Formats: sequence, structure tokens, C-alpha cells
Amino acid sequence: MPTETVYGLAADAGNASAVRRIFEAKGRPSDHPLIVHIAFPATMDAAGWRAAVAPFAREVPEFASALMQAFWPGPLTLIVPRRPEMAAVAAGGQDSVGLRCPSHPVAQALLLAAQALGVAGVAAPSANRFGRVSPTAAAHVAEEFAALDDGSLLILDGGACSVGIESTLIDCSRAAPVLLRPGTITAAQIEIACGLAVRERDAAAPRASGTLASHYAPRATVRLMPAQQLQAALDVLGTDAKNIAVYARHALRAARAVPQRRMPDDAHQAAHELFAVLRELDATGVRLIWVETPPDGPAWDGVRDRLQRAAA
Ligand code: TXA
Ligand code: MG
Repeated sequence: MPTETVYGLAADAGNASAVRRIFEAKGRPSDHPLIVHIAFPATMDAAGWRAAVAPFAREVPEFASALMQAFWPGPLTLIVPRRPEMAAVAAGGQDSVGLRCPSHPVAQALLLAAQALGVAGVAAPSANRFGRVSPTAAAHVAEEFAALDDGSLLILDGGACSVGIESTLIDCSRAAPVLLRPGTITAAQIEIACGLAVRERDAAAPRASGTLASHYAPRATVRLMPAQQLQAALDVLGTDAKNIAVYARHALRAARAVPQRRMPDDAHQAAHELFAVLRELDATGVRLIWVETPPDGPAWDGVRDRLQRAAA
């Protein structure tokens, strides 16, 4: 299924065997929980959102309710205490569940159609093999699962994902919001919307595979460098700079033609194209992808996080 962030590999969250097939297809350990996606409520106010999450959430703290009103439908996932009888396999053994209401119209059409069939929520991780680059176009999904496809893979083509990196992941199972995975919604925006300081993850925070040091990796080795160091490295190699591709905000000189893409100066634009560019450069068959370190500052947190993990 398409979403505004990345494509997801979807199953009825209440169907244990369908959910197990997601873990198998991704090659993901079964104790890494999946996000459950829910349809819009008829009225998008506090009561509407509470009703929408009620099938899965055992309780909804006030600050989580404020975040739903501020950012749903949209690229934000909230982890809340789970009703023990609901989505147990999708939740990977956690007593919590990650919930998200995506804004993509095709995702919503699917969720509403599923709801009409009695499906309360759709479990969907990013539709990539475990540890690999997330898909932001239908063709990427086909590529990811080409080896597995026995004709049973059905891809809903919703075009290129507008956001391009996965949702911001906030743990709401404790007294204050904890940022588990940065996205395009920043910690500062979360603080303004709910009036509480956002904490960094600590040892007590739930596990999340998107927070493993190495993730989002293409086949080629990714290396992050400031522009000057990148230029110096290209200069040293001169005409020997084969097997290298470059993704940088600054224009760089190379003594031979290297596959090169210009990183946008705008963080949202960079997020939008990041995974597609990594796939495109990877597909040229290079062994190394040299990427200019993204700027400091909160707007770039999501892109910086994905690139650091791709390089780990
Ligand atoms: O934008 C997104 O969030 C996309 C689209 C398809 O919605 N989905 C996505 O799913 O990125 P996935 O499975 O690739 O990443 C979800 C992250 C994982 O790091 C998972 O461990 C964490 O959310 N997560 C989900 N439920 C959790 C829970 N109950 N406790 C802790 N972490 C959880
Ligand atoms: Mg993922």
C-alpha cells in the first residue's frame, strides 16, 4: 500500500497468519513490532480520534490525544498501551502498539474498504527487505520482492510518496513523549503541539528496528563527509575515481565522470527524494556512495538519521 511516507507491506492486523507472512517476506525478526494503520474517523476532533484508536489502544494519554489532533492524518506514529487481545502478533510481543493514520488518499481508501469488511486496522511495515532502503515508489516494491514474487504480490500504485522518509515515531506509553525515530515532524513541533518536553530514547524505551545502528542500507557502502573532504577525496583519486557515486549539496569537481546527484537545499525536498536517489545511485553498480553530510539543525534530523544508519 502507498502512504505519504513510504510504501507499506500490508495485512489485516487481526489476522495472525497474514501478519506472519509480512515478517517472512521482509525477513524481519518476529519480535520487531509493526505499525497498525487506521482509517480517518468521521469527525477529526479529540473524540473522533479517541474512537478511532479505541479498538487497539488500552489507554490514550492526554498528550497523545493532542498529537493526534495536531498531526493526524499524517506522518506521525504514536506508541500507546495495547489492548492485550488486539494485534498481538503485529505488536511483536510488546504490550504496546504503534498507531498511525496516514493521509495518502489511496491508503485511506484501502483502510476504509478494509473497515467495511470488519478489519479494524492494517499492519504495515515499510515494504523493503529487512535492513534495506525503504520504497517510495511502486517500482521499488516490485524490485524488493522480485525474488519472492510467486504472483501473489499485489501492489497498489499510489505514485511517488510525497514525504519520502518514514513517520516520526513517538513513544506515548510513559508520562512524557519520547522520540524513537525522527521524521519530517520535528521534536520542536511535537513540543509545541502537546506542551511537553520531548525526551530522547533511553534504555527503558521500547525496541524499534528503525533505530538499529545499521539500517536503510543500499548494496554499495555509504560514506558521509563534509563537502570539502569529499572534494579532497575526489581530487586525490583523480581519474581513478571509479566505482564511486556522489550525492552532495555542493557542486563537486571530478576528473572523470562519476554518477552524481545534487542534494536539495530544502530538508523536505531532500527527504522526499532521499531513498529514490540512494536506489538510483546503487543501481549504477558503484561500490561506494559518497554523501555530503546534511546540515545541522532540526529540519534535517530525519534525513541525517537515515543517512547515518545507511552509512553505519
Ligand atoms: O512511515 C511509516 O511509519 C511507514 C509507513 C508504511 O507507515 N512504516 C514503517 O514501518 O516505517 P516499519 O515497520 O518499517 O517501522 C516501524 C518502526 C519500527 O522501528 C518498529 O520497531 C517501531 O516502529 N514500532 C512499531 N510498533 C512499536 C511498538 N509497539 N513499540 C516500539 N516500537 C514500535
Ligand atoms: Mg522500515
